[in-house]
Amino acid sequence: EIKIESADPSNTEVKKELTKDTEVTEITEEPIQNTDDIIKPDNNGGSSSKHSDKINSISMNEPLKSIKPTLDVPTVHVDIKRDPKVQIARLKLPILGEEQRIMELVNENEILIVSGETGSGKTTQIPQFLYEAGYAENKMIAVTEPRRVATVAMSKRVAHELALTSKEVSYLMRFEGNVTKDTKIKFMTDGVLLKEIQSDFLLSKYSVVIIDEAHERSVYTDILLGLLSRIVPLRLKRGITLRLIIMSATLRVEDFTDNTRLFKTPPPTIKVEARQFPVTIHFNKNTYSDYLKEAYKKAVKIHTRLPEGGILIFVTGQQEVNYLVRKLKASFPYRKDVDYTKLITKKTVNDVDPALDSEPEDIESDDDEVEKEMKRMRKARKKAKQKSKQLPKINLDDYDMPEDDGQADLVSDDDSDGHLSDSDVEEDTLAPAIKSCRQPLWALPLYSMLGSERQARVFAPPPPGARLCVVSTDVAETSLTIPAIKYVVDTGKKKMRVYSHATGASAWRVVWASRAGAEQRAGRAGRTGAGHAYRLYSAAVFQHDCPAHYEPELCRRPADDLVLMMKCMGIDKVVNFPYPTAPDKIQLRLAEKRLEVLGILEKYETKKFKKKNAEEILKVTPLGKAVSAFPLLPRYGKMLALSHQFNLLPYAIALVSALTVQEVMTGKADSWPATGNTLLLGDPGVLLRAVGAAEYAHVKGEEELFCAKYGLREKAIKEIRKLRKQLTSEINLSVSGANVTIDPEMKPPDDKQAKLLRQLLLSGLGDQVGRKIGLDEVKDGEDKRKFKYAYHCSNLEEPVFLHSESILRKSIPEWVVYQELYETGGTDRRKMVMRNVTAIEPEWLPIYVPQMCNLGEPLSTPEPRYDEASGRVKCHFKGTFGLSCWELPVVEID
Ligand code: CDP
Ligand code: MG
Repeated sequence: EIKIESADPSNTEVKKELTKDTEVTEITEEPIQNTDDIIKPDNNGGSSSKHSDKINSISMNEPLKSIKPTLDVPTVHVDIKRDPKVQIARLKLPILGEEQRIMELVNENEILIVSGETGSGKTTQIPQFLYEAGYAENKMIAVTEPRRVATVAMSKRVAHELALTSKEVSYLMRFEGNVTKDTKIKFMTDGVLLKEIQSDFLLSKYSVVIIDEAHERSVYTDILLGLLSRIVPLRLKRGITLRLIIMSATLRVEDFTDNTRLFKTPPPTIKVEARQFPVTIHFNKNTYSDYLKEAYKKAVKIHTRLPEGGILIFVTGQQEVNYLVRKLKASFPYRKDVDYTKLITKKTVNDVDPALDSEPEDIESDDDEVEKEMKRMRKARKKAKQKSKQLPKINLDDYDMPEDDGQADLVSDDDSDGHLSDSDVEEDTLAPAIKSCRQPLWALPLYSMLGSERQARVFAPPPPGARLCVVSTDVAETSLTIPAIKYVVDTGKKKMRVYSHATGASAWRVVWASRAGAEQRAGRAGRTGAGHAYRLYSAAVFQHDCPAHYEPELCRRPADDLVLMMKCMGIDKVVNFPYPTAPDKIQLRLAEKRLEVLGILEKYETKKFKKKNAEEILKVTPLGKAVSAFPLLPRYGKMLALSHQFNLLPYAIALVSALTVQEVMTGKADSWPATGNTLLLGDPGVLLRAVGAAEYAHVKGEEELFCAKYGLREKAIKEIRKLRKQLTSEINLSVSGANVTIDPEMKPPDDKQAKLLRQLLLSGLGDQVGRKIGLDEVKDGEDKRKFKYAYHCSNLEEPVFLHSESILRKSIPEWVVYQELYETGGTDRRKMVMRNVTAIEPEWLPIYVPQMCNLGEPLSTPEPRYDEASGRVKCHFKGTFGLSCWELPVVEID
């Protein structure tokens, strides 16, 4: 019998327990008193159901202690009337042979890990096994996917195989979904389930949670696994079992199995063995930067020379997919009115060497060879670079698009810039082959944002006589398996979210796929027979440039960002959280401290669960909540949140974008004379004006000239433009009432705005304040004559200086904030320099950085006064700032 109990969302005890400590909650196995408690007779109308039978037979034959008495096991078997075609196809899947074993393990354990070759049937079949066994009778089965494309595709497929509709097998993701009150199996993106945990900690709607594609290690999946490792024992304690099934491709499964942080005793693991046919790997001799052209050429060669079999091409993004599909379709068009089956003369295997001008796999090549290859590559790169100067550049915008959510724009990347190759001539030599080939190529696109109808086409056979060719992003690597692929063409590239540790802004960049990823891609060619994988790069690149695998995203993300995200989810003890792979603890602690200083987190006294001694934890403030909506490091998010209140969001977006990009100005700041607040706004002010003016020049088509004239790095300006666009659209989506547009004729801020911008900068950089010191304060041993001035920074002993190009050298203000500190000069002339400096007023410190001010009691003279405008009492204070206790002027505040 399954009890239904809904968890109280405001149950803070539950919440506390979740993040209590790193220990896994102990589950005591109670001795079995009465076997009847476990082996219940089948009272389901006399007809014995499949699974209760199974339970009976097992428990009779095996020692009883292997069954946990507290686990609920459904007793109802659900009959399915599957389409016979579906049934035949299912029977070919390796996982079908394991149904019995999987269901036994599910019934007897709360947690199960299933690893298996991609395409073995994990995602489509396991939810069905559970459904048939009655797991969706009283509560739902949840399946999480890190990718939107798989969420929709898999829910449709499972509905189809179970002969049900989207009413019963549904999906839910941000902005889209079809869940009903009758939903039994719910596919969702991992982010959606995380949101649900925030309002229902015990996930009381679900009997089973399946975490699919766990090997992808998305941030949300990793956090979900940590939370679930605690929720499962909690549910068991309350007598309503929650089962957790972790499914992953055969990559790094030990991160979940041998992980005592997550599970005290390793959960049972089942590996689904899939038949894999041999795949021959061919490397290119050279690595060309125009991998799209290489991919096109390889596809043409395969299609015109090699025997039947589908082609799967891996590129990095939606635009590349569409470009290649168009090009291939144009070369080998398909016409509905032609019967191609009659025209085609079948090619046989012996006709041609399948290596197709590639090299056979030779990864063991000796170092000499590798060295030679590297030399060749460097030469080729140089040549390509020179060539790119003569040729018109291909617009990167045509290619680069984010893979997952379609909102982020891509920042240009050095490796993929230009897309040029040395082999233009060779393409022409393919022309005769293309002309004489009469077989059409059934070229189909596949990427995350593709509509579900068009997505479904890749699973259907091509029209008679045509050859299937799917051009895909890495969604076809492990999430989706396309039938009948014999040839894989791998560009070796993928798009990855890369974080700027300066601002926390993320951008999609084209990088080398990992070696593990390349193996997965190649494996797609061996699902239905022996196949070939063509890597469009050399064995040397594979060995030296491709990492074995990438770190989980959670560890690549800046710590401030991660800490704020987790606090917003109600995970207070971020250091103790049971991460599958833990990020650096010290970094997490430092990030917490920084966020506290910025007023994004605040101390919160709590009585420890069951213990008397009070404990201090940091919780997110209302400001912190607002800050978390901005896709940037919290300090910049804070600037944006406040600028929204000041009506300065467009300026702040431009400013933050400009501060993110390195080395924007190559010349002196002299071209941007300033006075008053504009001068005091300092280097960020110069940046802001330069960006505004460059944008205007861009609209008029004079950007290049403009940049040259004013010493701006053109590439930096382009990158800033992309960031501004990306930030603007993300903010419009995530911040209600933002509605920002990019004004191509952004005027420089006026005096009042410049002053507000100075305060904004202080609000975000308040932990990085500098104060001018008298030269008599410069330590002995320093050469005093070298400096006309110097600054002290809150936590640094030695004096620091303004960047040599800083516009503030003209005024040397008393108090400043800076974006970063860095070291210059050799060992003998070493000094610390502040970059991007703004002048501030010390009176602002108690308002914008109160956490670092020590104000003491209000002064009796001047007397406190009632301020009618704000309705508050204003008092005068005298105080100090920071650890070094710099004296502040008398200030009047609430
Ligand atoms: O999850 P895993 O990679 O183990 O396999 P799966 O996604 O469950 O796929 C099992 C099989 O179903 C594959 O051979 C797919 O090609 C097939 N499939 C299909 O034919 N049509 C779909 N819409 C989805 C999957
Ligand atoms: Mg799968």
